[in-house]
Order: sequence, then C-alpha cells, then structure tokens
Amino acid sequence: MLINRRGMAVLAALVSVLACAPTDEPPPRAAAARHAGAPGIGDTDFPRDGNGGYDVANYSLTVDYTPASKRLTGVTKIRAKTTQDLSSFNLDLTGLDVAKVTVDGDPARFSRKGGELTVTPAAPLVADSPFTAEISYSGTPAPAKDTANLGTYGFIPTADGAFVASEPNGSKTWFPSNDHPADKATFDFTVTVPAGLTVVANGEQTAPPATSGGRTTYRWSERHPMATYLATATIGKFQVREGRSGGGIPTYAAVDPRFKTSLDKVYNLSGEITDYWSTVFGPYPFSSTGGVVDDYSAGYALENQTKPLYGGFDPDEGIIAHELAHQWFGDSLTIKRWKDLWLNEGFATYAEWLWSEHKGKKSADAIFKDFYNRGAQDPVWAYPPGRAKPGDLFNESVYTRGGMTLHALRKAVGDPAFFKLLKTWTAQHRYGNVTTRQFVDLAENVSGKDLDPLFDAWLFQPRRPTLA
Ligand code: TRP
Ligand code: ZN
Repeated sequence: MLINRRGMAVLAALVSVLACAPTDEPPPRAAAARHAGAPGIGDTDFPRDGNGGYDVANYSLTVDYTPASKRLTGVTKIRAKTTQDLSSFNLDLTGLDVAKVTVDGDPARFSRKGGELTVTPAAPLVADSPFTAEISYSGTPAPAKDTANLGTYGFIPTADGAFVASEPNGSKTWFPSNDHPADKATFDFTVTVPAGLTVVANGEQTAPPATSGGRTTYRWSERHPMATYLATATIGKFQVREGRSGGGIPTYAAVDPRFKTSLDKVYNLSGEITDYWSTVFGPYPFSSTGGVVDDYSAGYALENQTKPLYGGFDPDEGIIAHELAHQWFGDSLTIKRWKDLWLNEGFATYAEWLWSEHKGKKSADAIFKDFYNRGAQDPVWAYPPGRAKPGDLFNESVYTRGGMTLHALRKAVGDPAFFKLLKTWTAQHRYGNVTTRQFVDLAENVSGKDLDPLFDAWLFQPRRPTLA
C-alpha cells in the first residue's frame, strides 16, 4: 500500500497519541517532553503570549507595594484546569524574582527564560483535571515598552503609587499569568500599601480597608471573567465618590488630587453613559461602573474592567463614552486573537459617534463623511483594519476605519437590524471570546443579507471602498 506524506504524518501522530496512553511505567524522557505545555497560546502574531495546556479559572493576587522603594512583593495563586497531560507548563512573567512555586501544595521546580516561567510539578498533571499553582515573587516592576506604537504599559510606578494599564500583554510585568485575552478568569486582589494611599482594582471591595503598622490592605474581587490585560491595582492618593447611576448601577469614581475638579464630572458622566449604553448595547455586564483619573501622563485611557483608567488628563465625554463602550466590546466580549482588535476599537470609536448623535451634536453619518472625505490617500485606507498588525496593533485605521465599517454596515442593513445586531452580539457572547467571522455570520443572520462583499471591502482591502 502506498502512503503519501500526509498519510505518514497522520500515522506518526496516531503513534504518538498511543505512546501517551497511561501505563504503570514511568514515562520515557521523550514522552515527558511531549507533554510540556506550549510557551504560547496559539496567537501566531504574538507567539510567546499566553501558554498552552491549561485554562485559568481564578487568579488570587496578593501584592505588597511601597512607592518610595518601588518594591513589590507578591504571591499569585492560580486555580486552573489542564487541557492535556502536563509534565511542565509555562506562565508569563518579566523581571521580578521568583522565590518559590508550588503546584497542588507541593514544591515544584521552575526556570526562567525571556518572559517565560516554566514550572515542572513534582508529578506530571493529568489532562482535564483541576490544579492550583502558587508563585511567590518580588522585585522592582518595570513596565513594558514596545518599539511598535504601544508606548509604555503594564505596572508603571508613579510618584505616589502605580498606574496599572496592561494592554496588550503587560500583566506579566506585575504578576505571573496566562497573559493572553483568550484565557479569561475571575480575579481576587489583596493589595497592601503605605497608609494614606488608596488601591483601586476591578470589581467590588469585599472588605473595608484595614490598617495596621502603618500599612493598609485593600480587598477587591472581580466575579466576572476578565482578560489579564484588563486587570488593575492602581495605587495612589485618590479622592473617591461612590453611589449609583440614575439607572441604579453602582458607580465608583476616583481622581488624583490634581484632578479633584474632575471627580463629580467623571462620576456623573460615567453613570449617565453606562445607563445609556445599557439601552443601546443591552444590559450592563458587570457589577459596577466608574472611572479613575491618575496623575501619570499617559495621554491615553484604558478600559480596565468596571474601572476605565484615564492617564493624566481630564477626560471628556467622548473618551468616557469610548472606554465605557469597551465594557461590552472588549471586556464582556473579548477577542480571541489580537488581529481582531477592530472588534474592540472600531466598536468603541463608533460608540463615540453614537454618543455625539445621541447628544444632538454631530451625527454618526456626518462624522463618517468627514473621515471619508479626507480622501483616498489617507493612510487608513492602506491599512486593512480587519487584520491588526502585531507591530502596529493600535493603528488609527483599527479605530477610525473600524468605526466606519460599522457605519457602512448600519447604512446597508438599516437601523432596526443594526441595533438588533448589536444587542444580539452582546447577549450571545456575554463574558466570552469572539472572532470577526462570528460577527460577520451574525450580521448576515440578523439582516438576511449577504454581507461578505461589504466586510471584505471595509475590513480587508488596502484601499478606500466606494460608497453604495
Ligand atoms: N485600548 C485603549 C483605548 O483605545 C488604548 C490602549 C492600547 C492602551 N494599549 C494601551 C491604554 C496600554 C493604556 C495602556 O481605549
Ligand atoms: Zn479603545
């Protein structure tokens, strides 16, 4: 019988699967190596981001931070489940020194290379089984700096604390994690800082801050699945206002004293805008809304889950509308691969236009036309937003042309189908991971139209689409 190259490969794969069947014999070295968890989760644009072989359910972070010395001491407990047999598995962590790792309570061997922390449990882990890992570490966190257009991100020390904004892969600068949005998990935070400082993390405070020996411990918990890049424990002097939005959503606003005149505005607008988005995008997915203004001059904002973070400026309603739209598009519905980033940024940008329209200012259609009329040579037309490039992820096209794609879609299917689509999208994939293909399929289902030509022209071609 003739076996072609493909057949040989299939046969070889079959043999290797059989070789992995459990036996009483200790596995030979080659078999153990085959059971190593992959150093990346499978995002070909970011091959070392995240890891393979397990799925995290919960991170329990204990962090002690002193701004004066910039020293961080941490213990991260991870509750996870294996997705394959694992002789070893990786976590992502940069800088910082690891003192100890245990798996299911037993000491484990570990090694470091680049951003990878490889953990070898005393005994291999079996597929589809829960396990826990606990990592004790310390050091001076250094933020990530990317040569692309990402700027500085991660755990960024400030004069009075830290500004923590980790998109796309900066969580590894402050805790060991499966640092890729494809693996979402719940989070518990126990953060201790010098008394007088405030810690603002995601979700809700589960206990009042407790001070002893001049240090205060804050406890926060995010009960809904969250991508690692949305986790924050921003530290500093903050003025806080808490209450409920008109629609009854718990609202938390915190501002650095330098922005004390922004507190009421951030509080009120965050509540008002979250209420409005709940009528347009569907029920608010999380336990509270709000916003945090720190004195670090990032010049940008990040949609940290439940608590968007504004870096060093007084946010206007456009950017607040943008970051709060991300609570649905990005945070509740999270991309599986970075190339689909327009599902976050295109939607959040279009939300700014919808907010303007809602307020009786410029209509989305007028804003769309302004961008379109910048001309066919505008750089956004050379960059297809449906495939965000790893070296230029946050290109303006992903935002603006991504937003224009949604407006072109709205024009093609009409308002009733378009707004029904938005609500169906957020309902179907609440707390999950999504792809562009899924959105296109749903748009076609809801509208009953063939939309491949429209999406192809707007998302994937390196030229300006013609208008229908
Ligand atoms: N997602 C942010 C926004 O458009 C922008 C952003 C990308 C960012 N990477 C970041 C912000 C890192 C802070 C840190 O709203
Ligand atoms: Zn955004």
